[in-house]
Amino acid sequence: MRLLIPFLLPLTFASPLFSRADKGVYFLLAGDSTTAPKGGWGDGFLATTVASGSSGHNYGHSGATTASFRAGGDWGKVVKDIGTYKSSYDVYVTIQFGHNDQKTNSGVTIDMFKTNLKKFADEATAAGATPVLLTPLTRRNFQNGKVIENLADQRAATLSVAQTNNIKYIDLNLASETYVNALGKTEASKYNLASDDWTHLNEWGGVVFARIVSDLLVEKFPEFASAVKPNATMSALIKAGKPA
Ligand SMILES: *[C@@H]1O[C@H](CO)[C@@H](O)[C@H](O)[C@H]1NC(C)=O
Repeated sequence: MRLLIPFLLPLTFASPLFSRADKGVYFLLAGDSTTAPKGGWGDGFLATTVASGSSGHNYGHSGATTASFRAGGDWGKVVKDIGTYKSSYDVYVTIQFGHNDQKTNSGVTIDMFKTNLKKFADEATAAGATPVLLTPLTRRNFQNGKVIENLADQRAATLSVAQTNNIKYIDLNLASETYVNALGKTEASKYNLASDDWTHLNEWGGVVFARIVSDLLVEKFPEFASAVKPNATMSALIKAGKPA
């Protein structure tokens, strides 16, 4: 019997019991309308950039601030899903806010914005997921041929929370603004949800800006490589600042 053991061991390690390292990623997307279905990048992300074996859910909520996302119950659903999916997947929660928090009547100061982001990240971690903070997707309003940087404070606040607390992050604001500046107003307008809506994305815009999110994640965190379906053509166009 002893002699058999060396032959059985390799089989044991190849069995499903030992497949934890191959778990797919479950992406829970928390954010406002720029993540949400019909206007954001979230659905395009789940539909076109997530590889088979990985999955996710778009919890982006139109009009949401870091306060209303919690008060309205969306955050509770994210935390519940972490519990549901963490045994079968490595769960990641993307957290992207700022567009509504910044409005003067939002009731959310920049300090509260930072506190709320940190609390989301802490709770996601405590529930068994890995949080990733995203600086807010740029708006595409132009002035004198350049994108107006009207989310700079929210970008800086998000970066500060991430860096101070050692939370994973990607700088979507910078990457999306760089791309939109390279395209210019006329090409950028082709991603508008309505002709005069320079914030929300049409369906193809959702696919293209989701690719920016996906590329940023893979470049910075190699663990995403097997969870992502590449589109080298689109990634190259984006990098070159050309319409995708
Ligand atoms: C990949 O990107 C190109 C360029 O944007 C696009 O035309 C094509 O439809 C994309 N392919 C898939 C499978 O999404």
